[in-house]
Amino acid sequence: DWIMGNYIEEAVARIREQVGDEEVILGLSGGVDSSVAAALIHRAIGDQLTCVFVDHGLLRLNEGAMVMEMFAGRLHAKVVHVQAQDQFMGHLKGVTDPEQKRKIIGREFVEVFQAEAAKLKGQDTASGTNKGAKWLAQGTIYPDVVESGGTKTKKATIKSHHNVGGLPETLGLKLLEPLRELFKDEVRELGVALGLPHDMVYRHPFPGPGLGVRILGEVKAEYATLLQRADHIFIEELRKTVDEHTSKTWYDLTSQAFAVFLPVKSVGVMGDGRTYDYVVALRAVQTSDFMTADWAELPYSLLKRVSSRIINEVRGINRVTYDVSSKPPATIEWE
Ligand code: XMP
Repeated sequence: DWIMGNYIEEAVARIREQVGDEEVILGLSGGVDSSVAAALIHRAIGDQLTCVFVDHGLLRLNEGAMVMEMFAGRLHAKVVHVQAQDQFMGHLKGVTDPEQKRKIIGREFVEVFQAEAAKLKGQDTASGTNKGAKWLAQGTIYPDVVESGGTKTKKATIKSHHNVGGLPETLGLKLLEPLRELFKDEVRELGVALGLPHDMVYRHPFPGPGLGVRILGEVKAEYATLLQRADHIFIEELRKTVDEHTSKTWYDLTSQAFAVFLPVKSVGVMGDGRTYDYVVALRAVQTSDFMTADWAELPYSLLKRVSSRIINEVRGINRVTYDVSSKPPATIEWE
């Protein structure tokens, strides 16, 4: 609309003025905030922006391909796709403690990003052709600014939240944070106005450590593959199923929904044979602030479809359960 169009023009002008002809690096996570920041900054300065997308192997199914297709493919932005799956899996081997897992994923993320940033910072060459990046862009939004001001410290003591956008220091770069004044709703509107797909901009939140905290205990590549496929089926059915009272999809009627991998085997039957395979739990919650949450009363018919699809389509999983715990005392994530 007109107001958003105006806002974009102003924001673009501000970014151009701030950055001049210098280069900018941005960590792209696939989440709403970094995606909208990337689209906005790209609109302003085009190829002066390089996005770094770190794939830790714990993303949703096809996430890497989708991010590349959107930003490199459609927006023609410069994106470095760092395939760091093996590095992350290597460091997570044998680690079962949730907080330890978060720390490792957070630390490795910073390390991988720093290594890429160092390459992009480069050196000022005598010829002046490679000036190197001078700016670090982040998708910090207004609630993040308030949060780091110390009003929400209690939450952080329950789980050490690692956020992909939140690098500890600026790597010796100047900070560019064009979304600092915006609330989440405004960020979403801006994203749509910049041409990002509705489904991307209205996505459920996804934690920085990704599937790392949705695979209970030790993280293994094999578990991640099974979980990605089960989770994808759940999300697909939530998006397809419309509630007749509200005419909204169950994806839109829930605040967050996902599958959790339980490294527990149980017995099943398939055809004439016996199976002995893993379990997934489905989690869907409704909340306005994520501090408290109710489990969602999904229609049985929807749960039935999801369960039968997962068991039939994902070999290696033979049992599906639904989590009926509210927060508190349960948390939204299982770890
Ligand atoms: P909990 O499990 O504490 O989750 O009820 C509340 C919200 O925070 C998200 N969450 C995280 N987000 N890094 C993140 O970026 C994390 O380590 C993390 N842990 C939980 C969770 O997905 C939910 O939206």
